[in-house]
Amino acid sequence: MRVLVVNGPNLNLLGTRRPEVYGATTLAELDELCRRWGAELGCEVAVFQSNHEGALIDRLHSAVGRCDGIVINPGALTHYSYALHDAIEAIAIPTIEVHLSDITTREPWRATSVITPVCRASISGEGTAGYRRAIEMLAATPS
Ligand code: DQA
Repeated sequence: MRVLVVNGPNLNLLGTRRPEVYGATTLAELDELCRRWGAELGCEVAVFQSNHEGALIDRLHSAVGRCDGIVINPGALTHYSYALHDAIEAIAIPTIEVHLSDITTREPWRATSVITPVCRASISGEGTAGYRRAIEMLAATPS
């Protein structure tokens, strides 16, 4: 199983951006953890981060035929990007949404995710462990 882990805007700042909310783990460390967790489950993990909506969409499109599952934390695009919603719907690859923080208990505008309807599951508020659980869920998904 090949899993793509996608992180959106501002997640390149993990480790220094509001560590009390998002934790102290850097993106490089998170990427390495995801690769390791994937390897433990027999999954090959590729990682991608961009601050640009179009680059994220292009990466999702290029996953077709090359990837069996996607873990995505779209950052703030979660709350308003219908383009990302449509991309996830269009590629039809099992996708799990992850958020480090609990988006349901913060500012009211964060509680809405426009991508949840096109994702198999949504994990929020479990920190980096949420990425692990998402990879586990994909590894257990029948192909
Ligand atoms: C986030 C939550 C979003 O509201 C925020 O814009 C982020 C990170 C999270 O992982 O908790 O950039 O997706």
